[in-house]
Amino acid sequence: MELPFAESYKIKMVEPVQRSHRHEREQWIKEAHYNLFNLRSNQVFVDLLTDSGTGAMSDRQWSEMMLGDESYAGASSYFKMKNAIADITGFEFFLPTHQGRAAENVLFSAMVKEGDMVPGNSHFDTTKGHIEFRKATAVDCTIDEAFDTTLDHPFKGNIDLEKLENVYKKYPAEKIPMVIITITCNTSGGQPVSMQNIREVSELSRRYGVKVVFDSARFAENAYFIKIREVAYADKSIREIVREMFSYGDAMTMSSKKDAIVNMGGFIGFREEELFQKASVFNIMFEGFITYGGMSGRDMNALAQGLYEGTEFDYLETRISQVGYLGKLLKDAGVPVQFPFGGHAIFVDAKRFLPHLPKEQYIAQSLAVELYLEGGVRGVEIGTIMADRDPVTRENRYPNLEMVRLAIPRRTYTNNHMAYVAASLINVWERRSEIKTGFRIVKEAPILRHFTVGLEKI
Ligand code: F0G
Repeated sequence: MELPFAESYKIKMVEPVQRSHRHEREQWIKEAHYNLFNLRSNQVFVDLLTDSGTGAMSDRQWSEMMLGDESYAGASSYFKMKNAIADITGFEFFLPTHQGRAAENVLFSAMVKEGDMVPGNSHFDTTKGHIEFRKATAVDCTIDEAFDTTLDHPFKGNIDLEKLENVYKKYPAEKIPMVIITITCNTSGGQPVSMQNIREVSELSRRYGVKVVFDSARFAENAYFIKIREVAYADKSIREIVREMFSYGDAMTMSSKKDAIVNMGGFIGFREEELFQKASVFNIMFEGFITYGGMSGRDMNALAQGLYEGTEFDYLETRISQVGYLGKLLKDAGVPVQFPFGGHAIFVDAKRFLPHLPKEQYIAQSLAVELYLEGGVRGVEIGTIMADRDPVTRENRYPNLEMVRLAIPRRTYTNNHMAYVAASLINVWERRSEIKTGFRIVKEAPILRHFTVGLEKI
């Protein structure tokens, strides 16, 4: 008999989670103004809101916590982090930040100005937020295939070179401070970018004098997909692939809450000293001195260790197989999910799930609320609410895709939890025709409104 797949770790510590009754959840979600961010964690049974900062650290990471050096300047923990970053990514210069959006804030303060154009593959919401906050424009150049959730394509995170070159031709180089390659591309479904595409984007950008910046939150998962799907890389190690990916860039921003498997932390990696020096000033203003930048020494230690663990093949295989396990359960039951499955989450295609709901009633949000009511499972809307209003016209932006993302924390839940999530969603699928109305917004912030939006049932 062929030996089945099994996790590459065993469990040393557990945290209890509680189930609840539907009548309780009806009350709680109403009190939360139908915004899943407003729920208390003990009102949730399986929490798939995000895979960010929600993973389980290893025994080695916890050991590193005890060795943290909390010196204000020049801590050994800073050098441990610096060495790990240089070793894994090849970036010699780096700045610690407290999380990914802080890295964006610091880097963009040094690079982006009013009127600039920043092309990329479906920029993440905080990335876009930081661009638009500076009165610059994020231009989505993702390949069209990414927007068809049924289409099988190995690298749906890829950038369309023609779309990108059109931006380069239309605007002068001084108006384009960078192209951002998000690996994996969260917004389009945790979809990877191929090495070939990274190389081609880099070559094209160099010809036009545009810098290449990686939004690297899930870089190791991207490397795993390159190894599995891009023939030339089948025999390379994850770390070799990672080094090559980053060799095509000038800088990287990192939310370490994902592939460095820590609960908090981030950094910026730089190729050149000049940009590093320029950004250092903003780091000191916004984050802290350049050798801690918003992180404790113990957290820098755990991060350094996490970078090594996050780039091990067995770990990545365990993680991505679990995502695929949930995806397969749903797909086999006919639930419309983004295919192929991404690296960190299953994306449910809400427009195909609830085709009878008008887009003005926030289709994906309606589905996310139904899933919570059904099983106490918390996902997140990646749709019209998250897309925010157009900064100029203030009209709702209706994205091509309305998704509910079920993001899976690293090393946290078992496959029994995944089976529970699948059953909850399949129950909703079976009664989908009874879901007749969605929501209207009663309260919203001017930017990044999804975090605090208040809704009422129509
Ligand atoms: N870039 C990407 C691709 C992300 O997915 C995130 C965060 C960030 C940047 C910002 O990093 O949260 O550390 O400030 N994504 C989380 C998510 C929040 O749920 O997908 P951060």
